[in-house]
Amino acid sequence: MIELSHIHKNFGDLQVIDDVSLKVNEGSVTALVGPSGGGKSTLLRCINLLETPTSGSIRIGDAVVDFAPGKKVGWDAIQKLRRQTGMVFQNFQLFPHRTALENVMEGLLTVLKWPRAKAESHARELLTKVGMAHKADAWPATLSGGQQQRVAIARALAMSPRVLLCDEPTSALDPELATEVVEVLSKLAAEGTTMVIATHDLRLASRVADHAVFLEAGKVVEQGSADMIFGAPKQERTRRFVSSINASQGGYGEGI
Ligand SMILES: Nc1ncnc2c1ncn2[C@@H]1O[C@H](COP(=O)(O)OP(=O)(O)O)[C@@H](O)[C@H]1O
Ligand SMILES: [Mg+2]
Repeated sequence: MIELSHIHKNFGDLQVIDDVSLKVNEGSVTALVGPSGGGKSTLLRCINLLETPTSGSIRIGDAVVDFAPGKKVGWDAIQKLRRQTGMVFQNFQLFPHRTALENVMEGLLTVLKWPRAKAESHARELLTKVGMAHKADAWPATLSGGQQQRVAIARALAMSPRVLLCDEPTSALDPELATEVVEVLSKLAAEGTTMVIATHDLRLASRVADHAVFLEAGKVVEQGSADMIFGAPKQERTRRFVSSINASQGGYGEGI
């Protein structure tokens, strides 16, 4: 279980996350949706402490960290929480000077100090899972965007995180390449991988998510089952947002 309680995040005078609370059950997939600038990336970055929340608390499994203005959070507590998350970025962020296989092995070797043979065997299994075993020795620059993102997903899974955080994982991809990433994420969802995915790709959200959170101006406007949020939202604001992306993407439930 992942639980965010009353998270606030300010950048100087700008309040970017305004009292967000949400729970993510083990094995569930949560879509974070909402207009650009609404705080989706910041909220994801708060979950793995790439950003430090101004106040509130975060629990992942049995690791809990409380934040308050001026309170210093210990490095051990930060590491304990961060170890439980894997992050997938819009622009992949693979190490360019390492092969696909080496990208996936990196954390196992440097952080977990696994012996090389064990790390390699686990990394190959993960590349197989994302359909990239045949490109194990390829350099990132020689791979398509969809292939790079699949390697990035394998890398994020390498240390067996409790939750996979994905920030617009298909947004940099052409529709065809986005499809192969959606396929991989939906397979992971079917296997019970806990995920939080910020996206405005309704095809991804509707296919993969069971819970959805609509975030605007740093506040949760509405949250509930993905079917409800995308199919019959209660709030007028959510309805307008969903119909505007439906209009541009071809409709929820039509597999587009
Ligand atoms: N490091 C930062 N410093 C100052 N403002 C930031 C920073 N990161 C994000 N913001 C601001 O926070 C708001 C939310 O941004 P973001 O979380 O990226 O939204 P989204 O991912 O929903 O588009 C925006 O107004 C953005 O300009
Ligand atoms: Mg964003």
